Amino acid sequence: MTSASAPGKVILFGEHAVVSGTAALGGAIDLRARVTVQDLPGRILIDACDLCLKKFSLDLITGQVVSSDAVHFTRYVSAVLKDFDAQDLRVEIKSDLPMASGLGSSAAIVVATTAALSQHLGLGLSKKEIAERSHRIEKSVQHGLGSPMDTALASFGGYLQVSDDILPLDLPELEMIVGYTKQPHDTRSEVAKVQSMRSRYPDLVGPIFQAIGAISGRAVPLIREQRLASLGELMNVNHGLLEALGVGTRELCELVYAARGAGQALGAKLTGAGGGGCMIALPAPGGSAALITALKQARGLAFPVKIGCEGVRLESDLG
Ligand code: MEV
Repeated sequence: MTSASAPGKVILFGEHAVVSGTAALGGAIDLRARVTVQDLPGRILIDACDLCLKKFSLDLITGQVVSSDAVHFTRYVSAVLKDFDAQDLRVEIKSDLPMASGLGSSAAIVVATTAALSQHLGLGLSKKEIAERSHRIEKSVQHGLGSPMDTALASFGGYLQVSDDILPLDLPELEMIVGYTKQPHDTRSEVAKVQSMRSRYPDLVGPIFQAIGAISGRAVPLIREQRLASLGELMNVNHGLLEALGVGTRELCELVYAARGAGQALGAKLTGAGGGGCMIALPAPGGSAALITALKQARGLAFPVKIGCEGVRLESDLG
C-alpha cells in the first residue's frame, strides 16, 4: 500500500491577465488530496470522497458506479492509470478540496496519484518529472486547456510567479480565508468571455491586464515584508478589475462584501476564473473567526487556509 498527498492552490493575483502573458502569483494551500494505491488482482477500483462529503465508488472493469459524482475524480485518475498502464489496483482518494471550485482539486489528485503510482511501481520519479507528467495528463483530460500553475504548485508547493515561465518565490506563509459560493464554474467559458472582450475592446482591456500584472509584481515585496494592510488594498483593486472584465457573480460579490464589511477583512477578491467558485479574504490580525462567521452568514462555505505550504509528499499513514 502506498499513499501520497498534494496540495490545492489559490491564485492570489493576476488571473485572466496571465492568459495574455502578464504575471500572476499563486500559492499552495494546506487543503490536500490524499491518494492511496494498493494491489487488487484482476480489478481496477477507484473510491473517493471530497470535502463536500460526496462519496462514490467506481469499478473500471465492471463499470459499476455507486453515486453520481464520479465523473470529476474518475476522469483524472483513470487518465493517470492509463498513462502508467497500471492495472490490478485499488485507488482511494480523500480530498479536502471541493471539486470544480478553482482550488486546483484536479491537479492535486493527478499529482498525488502520479506520486503514489511512481512509488508503488518503483519508478522513483522526481518532483520535476511528477509536475511535467501531471501537467501533460491534466491538459489531455481538459482537451488542451490548463496552465502549468496548478500542477506545479501541487508538486513543488510554496509560491509561484507565472508569466512566460514559472518562477518559484521564497515567501513566508500567509493565512487567508477561502469563501466558496458552492457554484461550480467553467474556466474555459470564463477565459473565452474575457478574451472575446479583449478582442472587442483592446484599448480598454489591454490597460486592465497591464494594471493586473502590475499588482502581481507589487504584491511580492508586500508578502515578503508582511505589509498586510497594503496587500489587502491590492486584493480589493484586483477584484474591481476582474469585475470590470465581467467574471464576477452576485454570489462572489456577496462574499467579498461580507468579508470586507462584517468580516472586517483587510482585503477580499475572487480567485481563479470567476463565474462561480471561490473568493479569498485576508483577515485582520485576530479576525479569522469574525471573517468565517461573516462568510457563512452570506451563505458561503468558509475554509481557513495557510498559503505557501508544502508540495507533494509520500504519506506513511492516511490518518
Ligand atoms: C484559472 O484558474 C486562471 C485563469 O487565469 C486561467 C489560466 O490561467 O489558465 C483564469
